[in-house]
Amino acid sequence: MRKKILAANWKMNLTQVEAASFVQTFLGEIGEVNDVEIVIVPPFTSIPALAQISEKAPFIRLGAQNVHWERSGAYTGEISATMLRALFVKYVLIGHSERRSLFGETDETVNRKVSAALEAGLRPIMCIGESLAERESGLVEKVLHRQVEGGLKGIAADHMSEIVLAYEPVWAIGTGRTATPEQAEEAHAFIRSVLAELFDQSSADRIRIQYGGSVKPENTEDLMRKPDIDGALVGGASLDPRSFAQIIRATEKTLK
Ligand code: PGA
Repeated sequence: MRKKILAANWKMNLTQVEAASFVQTFLGEIGEVNDVEIVIVPPFTSIPALAQISEKAPFIRLGAQNVHWERSGAYTGEISATMLRALFVKYVLIGHSERRSLFGETDETVNRKVSAALEAGLRPIMCIGESLAERESGLVEKVLHRQVEGGLKGIAADHMSEIVLAYEPVWAIGTGRTATPEQAEEAHAFIRSVLAELFDQSSADRIRIQYGGSVKPENTEDLMRKPDIDGALVGGASLDPRSFAQIIRATEKTLK
């Protein structure tokens, strides 16, 4: 059984003061959560404000939004996996579509980052997904295949249970236009078949695949009931502690 994993991608939002106030409200809202893993992914500057959160709530993990592939050195403006580990960070987003489209990340840089993260003991959340033009040209499978193969090149199959994939169709991110549960399930099942082809069936069965793109409390339950959808990467709706808590509750409902 794959444990569902819900991650809050705050993007470039919430100062450390705002983050601390989020946590206070959020912990009050959610109470105890046992069967879902929760990851909060703040901007780097708000990580210290959340570093103690797992002591209060062990089911919550910390994530970061990016990482560099080198351990240290002359890379002005970059942050290494070791630095993140020192702040108790456990997960790291890699290759989010905003990083790919706005900051020039490619499958090759994604691959280097995935390797570096694993080597340092961080768990990558590797983001993939097609653009609207690619979907309309019938290229969904081709793009997903290329991104999975390129991003996971050279990674050993025994790392698969530490890796999370996030399928985020670019046309659904921040647009209010969610993929239908059927569209998402179709893509997730395809991604799993690619993993089986590139690695083996048991690796493909172990890896968790999140859906991302306009996830809200109202659409969570239908998405999370699909067999190949193992969680969500939530942007906009995760900035409000009450709506993120509702997304968690909607997910727990699907487990009963
Ligand atoms: P959204 O963002 O939920 O605001 O669409 C998701 C993401 O970019 O990870």
